[in-house]
Amino acid sequence: ELIAEFNKKLKFWYIKNHRKLLWRETTDPYKIWLSEIILQQTRVAQGTPYYEKFLLNYPTVFDLAAADERDVLRLWQGLGYYSRARNMHYTARQVVNEYGGKFPETAAGLSKLKGLGNYTAAAIASFSFGEAVAAIDGNVYRVMSRIFGIQSDMLSNQGKKEFALMAGQLVPSDDPATYNQAMIEFGALQCVPVSPACHICPVTDMCFAFAHNMQNQLPVKVKK
Ligand code: ADE
Repeated sequence: ELIAEFNKKLKFWYIKNHRKLLWRETTDPYKIWLSEIILQQTRVAQGTPYYEKFLLNYPTVFDLAAADERDVLRLWQGLGYYSRARNMHYTARQVVNEYGGKFPETAAGLSKLKGLGNYTAAAIASFSFGEAVAAIDGNVYRVMSRIFGIQSDMLSNQGKKEFALMAGQLVPSDDPATYNQAMIEFGALQCVPVSPACHICPVTDMCFAFAHNMQNQLPVKVKK
């Protein structure tokens, strides 16, 4: 059926098209966490050198917890959104002091840490621990909205419900990590916000937006 067919095509697309990114070569939750925090507000090309530099200085959560906050902020210079660095430092101490340096292994447990929203918690839970939870960022909202024709505002309560329901049906119990990386990558490279190259997309035959020529109207964003 539709979902199985979509997942199969998405996986095939990912195998052929994904970028080799450093944080895709590890399952260390500390490193995954760092990458996701950087990528929240920073592009891959700009964020990658910071990811490397940060891990050279603080290879483990224990190193980060032991650091002086001023040094952490200095390493973050140029990335902006400095609360990210302050929160990471705070949370590293929380992980060390309250969890013995071991990250919780579920999205529910990870969500209790400061600065970890639903997206980051789900990303770490699936990439590091193989939990079958959907990591829904802006890329993933866009893909789901266009393919499955979800037209409610993703920030409304109704929209959140609809997207969460769809995401829950999509995430496979077999290799949820690759599925999540594939959705993020598909949104970042193929199903891009403006004028996506639908003529080279592998899922146009099942895409609501393509069928209705609504690529540029979806996802719906209500102006605040
Ligand atoms: N943006 C957010 N998370 C990402 C990831 N895991 N890979 C590439 N881009 C991302």
